[in-house]
Amino acid sequence: MADQAERLRAIIRKRNSTKVAAKGKGSRVITVASGKGGVGKTNLVVNMAIIMGQLGHKIVILDTDLGMANTDILLNLKPVYTLIDVIQGQKDLQDVLLQGPHNVEVLPGGSCLPDIVNLDSQQREKLISRLSYLDREENILLVDCAAGLSRDVLSFVASADDLVLVTTPEPTAITNAYGIIKVVNNYRLKPKVNIVINMVRHARDGEAIYRRISNVCRNFLSIDINYLGSIEFDQYVHRAVLNCYPYALQFPRSRATMLTREIARRLLYGEEGPAAKKGERFLRRLFTIWNTGSGG
Ligand SMILES: Nc1ncnc2c1ncn2[C@@H]1O[C@H](COP(=O)(O)OP(=O)(O)O)[C@@H](O)[C@H]1O
Ligand SMILES: [Mg+2]
Repeated sequence: MADQAERLRAIIRKRNSTKVAAKGKGSRVITVASGKGGVGKTNLVVNMAIIMGQLGHKIVILDTDLGMANTDILLNLKPVYTLIDVIQGQKDLQDVLLQGPHNVEVLPGGSCLPDIVNLDSQQREKLISRLSYLDREENILLVDCAAGLSRDVLSFVASADDLVLVTTPEPTAITNAYGIIKVVNNYRLKPKVNIVINMVRHARDGEAIYRRISNVCRNFLSIDINYLGSIEFDQYVHRAVLNCYPYALQFPRSRATMLTREIARRLLYGEEGPAAKKGERFLRRLFTIWNTGSGG
């Protein structure tokens, strides 16, 4: 544990001390994480991607949950190759990317792969050089993470422009979300955490939950907690999942779609929109962190 803490500190020291000249701006990268599994991250990522795509943006979903990758399932896409083939150097990104609806592309994660940070340095380098194909200004990358804060998730959180943390009103989910906020605060991974409360009874309940989390953070931590919005528990989400079809497409007038649209708009055009973007590029940061964090 102490060993891991020291490794984390090394990652952050290196991150803060690396001065990388930004050669133009890369894509905007938004990492979606949660403390607990099953809170609705993948549904949020997929439906937000479609809504952003409908608004004219080019979206790439990076499915990094290598244990239980399932963004492709929710979009009813059938991957022939996955991130694993890219990591093993057998395929180029263009062969692996799946074309989804409305300007949305998916990089499927595959499954049964060791953590990315545990790959050897040659494999990581190959992965980064292939991923650079995505790092273009016109793209928005949405990173769907595994639950919890593994070192992989941590590296995506630290490298991305924005972090969206998803929780439900359940006490266990909130406690685990708070645990993530604490780590993000302690290691100064991000100055701000954007929160989405999913599966609330009424949208207005979400704001009260956010205020509770935000008050605790104000008292004990020095990190900005920003409320992006809530999504109600909506049977149409469940029905859409059963049909392997995103609710934003199948039920465009459902409460879930309406509320997800508000969240997507806040991310795109709110104060956490493109103006908040940093100059340093995502892949450069990711590369630095992977190489510092694993010693591989
Ligand atoms: N707003 C919602 N209303 C109703 N059910 C939901 C909602 N969001 C998610 N779910 C249900 O929760 C399940 C888990 O969601 P998922 O997006 O796979 O979570 P995660 O990626 O966090 O593990 C989905 O299969 C879906 O049935
Ligand atoms: Mg998921």
